[in-house]
Amino acid sequence: MSDTKPPTHPPDGSPRELDQRLRYVARLETVGQLAAGFAHELGTPLNVVLGRARMISRRQVEGDAAVECADIIIEQARRMTELVRALLTFARSRPSPTDQLDLDGVVERACRLLTPIAHKRRIDFVIEPDDETRRVRGDSGALQQVLANIVMNSLDAMPQGGEVHVSTVTGHRAHPDSGAEQAWHGIRVVDRGPGVPPELRERVFEPFFTTKDVGAGTGLGLSVAYGIVRDHAGWIAIDDADPGPGAAVTIWLPPST
Ligand SMILES: Nc1ncnc2c1ncn2[C@@H]1O[C@H](COP(=O)(O)OP(=O)(O)OP(=O)(O)O)[C@@H](O)[C@H]1O
Ligand SMILES: [Mg+2]
Repeated sequence: MSDTKPPTHPPDGSPRELDQRLRYVARLETVGQLAAGFAHELGTPLNVVLGRARMISRRQVEGDAAVECADIIIEQARRMTELVRALLTFARSRPSPTDQLDLDGVVERACRLLTPIAHKRRIDFVIEPDDETRRVRGDSGALQQVLANIVMNSLDAMPQGGEVHVSTVTGHRAHPDSGAEQAWHGIRVVDRGPGVPPELRERVFEPFFTTKDVGAGTGLGLSVAYGIVRDHAGWIAIDDADPGPGAAVTIWLPPST
């Protein structure tokens, strides 16, 4: 199944096809939001490149100073290439839900993509490191999308700016649907917004449920995220941040064996 291309034609209107279309739309929406942050983030290195190239072309610098300018241009161009490559990899990623993944790697890649939009909104990511390696089977691109949707909600919940904490965790839990009790690996996102009221914690996963203004949210983020995580045999839990206030959203996934 692909969530990166519209489903093949003719459309059959099946729930599966609708689900694929929903994911495709949500992914495009994410790419659009990320691109806005990227445009902002590319501005600084572009200005440096322009300024240095102009100095060389006007012969304001020569010899070693010109070489230094060229090195700075190379470094800034590399930075821009990396940003663009990360966005393209995300936009084009093909699902392969059986890849062996390290959860910290998923966090790192998603946060690299999300940092520009977070900075634009005066929010810093604090990635809480720990020594444990947590392996799951899954589709890295799809899980990055899940994390992006959750983080985007945290950014929306903190219009005043601040910190969003992201960590990988392991916990003994019962699966809310199957009841399976075991150790699960998770990615947890904690913000300092108002949190999600307990009476809304199930409804927020419904497609098109949103408390945001018309045009500000489609209400698709969490429903698409939940569908992807369910395909990975996991679930998403919403709790209060501890200590509060704020929301703690955890993606729980089965450890790979
Ligand atoms: N971290 C959070 N803090 C507070 N409320 C949240 C948080 N995450 C989700 N919500 C609530 O859940 C609702 C549904 O979230 P969801 O991501 O599905 O849609 P949306 O953010 O409203 O729109 P979209 O993601 O499509 O742009 C939000 O409108 C908001 O009320
Ligand atoms: Mg959202």
